[in-house]
Amino acid sequence: MIIEPKVREFICTTAHPEGCRENIKQQIAYVKAQNINKCPKKVLIIGASTGYGLASRITAGFGCQADTIGVFFEKPSNGKRTATPGWYNTVAFEEEAKKAGIYAKSINGDAFSEEIKEKTIHLIKQDWGKVDMVIYSLAAPRRTDKDGNLWVSSLKTTKESFTEKSLDLRNNTIVEKTVDPAELEEIQGTIKVMGGEDWLEWIEALKKANAIEEDAYTVAYSYIGPELTYPIYFDGTIGQAKRHLENTAKIIKEKFPKLQAYVSVNKALVTQASAAIPIVPLYFAILYKIMKEAGNHEGCIQQISRLFKEKLFEEEVPVDEKGRIRMDDWELSEKVQKKVVEAWKEVTTENVTEISDIEGYWEDFYQMFGFYVPEVDYEKDVDIECSIPSIEH
Ligand code: NAI
Repeated sequence: MIIEPKVREFICTTAHPEGCRENIKQQIAYVKAQNINKCPKKVLIIGASTGYGLASRITAGFGCQADTIGVFFEKPSNGKRTATPGWYNTVAFEEEAKKAGIYAKSINGDAFSEEIKEKTIHLIKQDWGKVDMVIYSLAAPRRTDKDGNLWVSSLKTTKESFTEKSLDLRNNTIVEKTVDPAELEEIQGTIKVMGGEDWLEWIEALKKANAIEEDAYTVAYSYIGPELTYPIYFDGTIGQAKRHLENTAKIIKEKFPKLQAYVSVNKALVTQASAAIPIVPLYFAILYKIMKEAGNHEGCIQQISRLFKEKLFEEEVPVDEKGRIRMDDWELSEKVQKKVVEAWKEVTTENVTEISDIEGYWEDFYQMFGFYVPEVDYEKDVDIECSIPSIEH
C-alpha cells in the first residue's frame, strides 16, 4: 500500500512503517554515539512506544545494553487502516534489539488496569526476577481505576477563562483562543489520569510481588513551561496533575526509602500528547526557532540521553529546591525566555513563518507518524500489517 498522511488538526490518522523504522534507527545511532553506559540493566518502561517513553527505552536498550520491557497502548493494522505509530516503532525497536542481541519484550494494553500490571509482573518474574528501573511515561486521555470508575483528563484552566494567541493548526494562521475554566470534576479527573496515583500503584504492585530491587530507580516525567503558558499548563488542570505526580515521588521515597524515586521536568516537545494542548503549539514553534538558533535545541532522544548520562545516575543527583531533576534548564533559561516573550508579542499570521519555526513544528509532527523522513521512499509499496515479535496473536 502507498501510505499518505491524513492530518486532522493535531492528529494524523495514518502512520508509515518504514518512516517509523528510520526514526528508530536514527535514535539508536544517536544514543550509541553518546557513551552513556551507566544505567540499570533490567528496565521497565510504562508508555514505551512514542515520545519520551520510547526515547527512554532506546536510551536504556542501546545506550546501556539494558534489557527492556515496554508497556503501551497501541493498535495494530486491521489490513485496511495502518497501525498506530507506536506499534510500528515497537516492531522496529524489537527487530533492531534482536539483531543487537538485546532482550526486548512488549505488552500492549491498558497500563492502568490490574490485568496489565499482573501480566507485566509475571513476565518480569519469569524472565528477570526483578527490575532495577521503572520509567513512568504515560500520557493518556482517560483511566478506569481499580474500582471501575472512569476518569477523563482535560486541558483547561483552573481559575478564570484565558484568552491568548494560538496557532490554528488547520491553516497556520494566528488566531485568538479562549480556554475555559474546568469544573471541579474535570480537575479531579485530570489528576486521576495524569497524576501519580497509578505510578505509585505500579511500584506497590512490583514491591508486593517482590519484583523490584530494593535500591531500584524510578522516574516519571513532568513539565512546567514558561509563565506565558501558566494559565493553561502550570496553573491549569494538567499542572495540578503534575504537582500530584511530583508529590508522588516524595510518597514513594517515604514508603520505600531505599528506592531512588525522581521526577524529571522535561523540555517542551511535539509529541502526540503535547500537540493536543491548546495555545502550546505556537509556543513550541517559537521556542524551536530560538533554541535552534542558539544551538541548544533537543528532541526526546537528546533529552533522555542527557538525563541518563549527566543527571540521573550521578552520585549526587542534581535536583532543584523541590527535589526535581531539571531537563528544562535550557528551555527556561533567561536568555531563551526573553526572546520567546518578544517573539510572542510580535507574531502575526503575516510573519509567523519568519518569527517561529513553524516548519520545524510540522516536520516533527509528520515525522512522529513516520512521514517526511528524507531517507524513506514514499512511492514504494509497503506492507502495513506487521507484528511486534514478542507479542503473540
Ligand atoms: P506520548 O503521547 O508520545 O506517549 C504516551 C505513551 O503512553 C505512549 O507509549 C502510549 O502508548 C502510552 N499510553 C497511553 N495510554 C496508555 C494506557 N492506558 N496504557 C498503556 N499505555 C498508554 O507522550 P509524551 O509527550 O512522550 O508524554 C510522556 C510523559 O512526558 C507525560 O507524562 C508528559 O506529560 C511528559 N512530558 C511531555 C512533554 C512534552 O512536551 N511532550 C514535556 C515534559 C513532560
